[in-house]
Amino acid sequence: MSAVPAAGERPVTTATFRARKLANERIVVVTAYDAPSARLAEEAGVDAVLVGDTLGMVVLGYDSTLPVTLDDMLRHTAAVRRGLSRALLVADMPFLSFQISPEDALRNAGRLMAEAGARAVKLEGGVAIAPTVLKLTEAGVPVMGHVGLTPQSVHQLGGYRVQAKETEAALRLIDDCRALQSAGAFAIVLECIPAELAAIVSAELEIPTIGIGAGAGCDGQVQVWHDLLGLGERLPRHAKRFADAGAIIRGALAGYAAEVRAGTFPDDGACTRMEPGVLDELRRGREGLAHADREG
Ligand code: KIV
Repeated sequence: MSAVPAAGERPVTTATFRARKLANERIVVVTAYDAPSARLAEEAGVDAVLVGDTLGMVVLGYDSTLPVTLDDMLRHTAAVRRGLSRALLVADMPFLSFQISPEDALRNAGRLMAEAGARAVKLEGGVAIAPTVLKLTEAGVPVMGHVGLTPQSVHQLGGYRVQAKETEAALRLIDDCRALQSAGAFAIVLECIPAELAAIVSAELEIPTIGIGAGAGCDGQVQVWHDLLGLGERLPRHAKRFADAGAIIRGALAGYAAEVRAGTFPDDGACTRMEPGVLDELRRGREGLAHADREG
């Protein structure tokens, strides 16, 4: 069961996203992959939590997002759902869960919503997937688009690099965004594109843009949990480490190891003591057994 929103706290919806854009208020999105992290994100007041397929890299130890399965996303989305009450929960559609056909995409998006409790799904791609986005939005599935650096196409893009730096590619990206908006997407992630282009797109679209590596001119920002908190091995150029939780965790584990080795953990406060009567009885019982062994 997910938590219930506190009185007066209205859940964030796709309509909230649109209202924030109209009011010129920035939208805050962070990724999370489990219930306790989702709870912390919500307590910190973020607007939306994205169960990104970065799951594959930052949690499951793969070197790309390609091996992430729909089952992985269902399990982690359901976990995040249990930690949230107010923030909008968006689940990524993993590689090959939406590219095969619009019907297949609708079936898989439906599972993320009905079985795992997602309130929206995110798909990578532009003009080419607009018919799929239309199929989903017409069926009542809110869709967040994702253009620019689309990590599921890393091998086609030739690496994780900034996209749409040249005029032709920038114009194509603008077309992609227009197509997603026309197909009913409620927001679009702009990943690793020049800041000027992101600002142009953000000004032109009616729906909000959520940037990552796309400058401050977007309507909101998304960051990956492990980058933000210093838990990743490597910090991408577009990310900022707001805390070094890795150092805190390493320090805590080293303290634990030292106390176990010194025999000072667990101390008396962490132990349960036997009732004196029970202890006496136990000792007498053992003495009786030892005596019977000697006699026998
Ligand atoms: O998978 C993910 O975490 C993402 C964000 C980086 C936008 O798509």
